[in-house]
Amino acid sequence: MIKKFYPSSLYNFLSFIQVNPVNKKILDCGAGGRNPKLVFFYENGFETYGIDISDEQLEKLQTYCEENSIDLGVIKGDMKIIPFETEFFGYVFSYLSMVHLSKNETKIAINEIHRVLVKGGLCYLNFLSKDDINFDEKEESKPGEVIGIERGKEEFHSYYEDNEPDEYLKKFEIIYKEKRHVLKGKYFQTGRTCILDYIMKKI
Ligand SMILES: C[S@@+](CC[C@H](N)C(=O)[O-])C[C@H]1O[C@@H](n2cnc3c(N)ncnc32)[C@H](O)[C@@H]1O
Repeated sequence: MIKKFYPSSLYNFLSFIQVNPVNKKILDCGAGGRNPKLVFFYENGFETYGIDISDEQLEKLQTYCEENSIDLGVIKGDMKIIPFETEFFGYVFSYLSMVHLSKNETKIAINEIHRVLVKGGLCYLNFLSKDDINFDEKEESKPGEVIGIERGKEEFHSYYEDNEPDEYLKKFEIIYKEKRHVLKGKYFQTGRTCILDYIMKKI
């Protein structure tokens, strides 16, 4: 099997979902790129699904899947209008992908995630903290919203105060919360960053 390292928060999410008695369908919102986090859940016996809005990222993922003879079930889609029926998934996650949405768009995407989750289903989301090394107050267009340069390209990011995402998650029960400083990004290519991790249950 494919030997890879994954961010610690995904092992943490796995420890919650392995003992949660709902269906084993899992959706990754923003699943594209050459380092798909869905593989981790595939390796652990889950039925994987993913969406990504970018053709370029989907192509990179396709190359990865072909090279490793694996089908992760990823299609083109926008997490603001998730192309799956209501209450289809036991689990949903988004790893450093929702960070590219504005705060208003984030609220819409979270409502969509709530819709597609079964009751009792779990969700893992992360948000960039305003303590992240790349947050520059001087560049803000709206509070916490910044266009910066990433790998030579303009990229939009939203940054949050410590408890700010709680406001967006009122329909859920928050069952785990952590502020994570990633000082060495050697394995995960995240660099020196600061992430707010949340695990929620649909009640
Ligand atoms: C920084 S990459 C992270 C990719 C992957 N989750 C990972 O950890 O390697 C962000 C991804 O989110 C995707 N994305 C951004 N906005 C999206 C949206 N509205 N719906 C679905 N995917 C989106 C981008 O195309 C990109 O593939």
